Amino acid sequence: MKLQLLKFFCPFLLTACLNSNTNGRKENIQSDVITCFTPGEVWKDTEGNPINAHGGGVLYHEGTYYWYGEYKTGITSLYPDQGWECYRTDVTGVSCYSSKDLMNWKFEDIVLRAVENDSTHDLHTTKVLERPKVIYNARTKKFVMWLHVDSPDYAKACAGVAVSSSPIGDFDYIGSFRPNDAMSRDQTLFVDDDGQAYQFYSSEHNQTMYISRLTDDYLRPSGQYTRNFIKQAREAPAVFKYNHRYYLLSSGCTAWDPNQAEIAVADSIMGPWKSLGNPCMGPDADKTFYSQSTFVIPVHGKENTFIAMFDKWVKTDLEKSSYVWLPIIFDDGFPTIPWYDNWDMTVFLE
Ligand code: GAL
Repeated sequence: MKLQLLKFFCPFLLTACLNSNTNGRKENIQSDVITCFTPGEVWKDTEGNPINAHGGGVLYHEGTYYWYGEYKTGITSLYPDQGWECYRTDVTGVSCYSSKDLMNWKFEDIVLRAVENDSTHDLHTTKVLERPKVIYNARTKKFVMWLHVDSPDYAKACAGVAVSSSPIGDFDYIGSFRPNDAMSRDQTLFVDDDGQAYQFYSSEHNQTMYISRLTDDYLRPSGQYTRNFIKQAREAPAVFKYNHRYYLLSSGCTAWDPNQAEIAVADSIMGPWKSLGNPCMGPDADKTFYSQSTFVIPVHGKENTFIAMFDKWVKTDLEKSSYVWLPIIFDDGFPTIPWYDNWDMTVFLE
């Protein structure tokens, strides 16, 4: 391991990134423009409101990044008699923010809204909507969203699909199903260089990860799938490709509580996958810095530059959950995710 990866803050960034106000609190802004990432801190949008996009993912399209996530508002309540801590908020919808630099985000809208007047609808406020991901289909010119939709007790375990002609919505909800007749909860999407898209999802009561190739329009499973990490209970999948190999970052299965992350590698996207252990480094690395993976962003125009997105859940007040974004640094070909109190893109040059 390179020694410089073990430092937990970057002194030369401090002057660039941090101002102190009269209370001595650190702020990551200069004239309201955010100049570095401060994992775990409150992250405000360009209007000054905390960003509300949990369990999300980022799409790069024509010069702009779009961040989609769960818009969580209102009271967090404990759904009764589950035998596990089934905290939830009512569904509001999927939010969308846009950015040119991945640091300063403009709130665009709620691009897929909860349904209030039909209690049988998947998107009814009383249901569960999690982990939305959006990909662009160059053939159909549609933006396609997949999300985890569930009943309030998480028994439904389905994938929902919505489409839009614009990255900033509105998305039209098509419906939900169990892909390949298998339960689908935590999930993500990945588009390979050849345009083929895949859904990764925790299935079989969250015990086994399915990888399912989608149809060419990205709206359904193609029928080709593999079962991976069998009975290993991996959740919160996030996928990226580096040097012609596929990497899968995931968490263990402990509801909203943090656990140790794991990264795995494969030569073929459908597997087999080989675990490389925990990529996190620094304080609380064994608890993924008290957060949980959701997505890996390839930084556009910069080769082999990836940002790992995590959610730092506040289970009793989910709206207050924050974000931990950290660089993925390859050290002798091995992916590491070192902690930084604050950082910017220059860490990739070290
Ligand atoms: C987590 C999962 C979250 C949410 C939560 C509910 O394990 O990653 O997306 O489903 O459980 O407790």
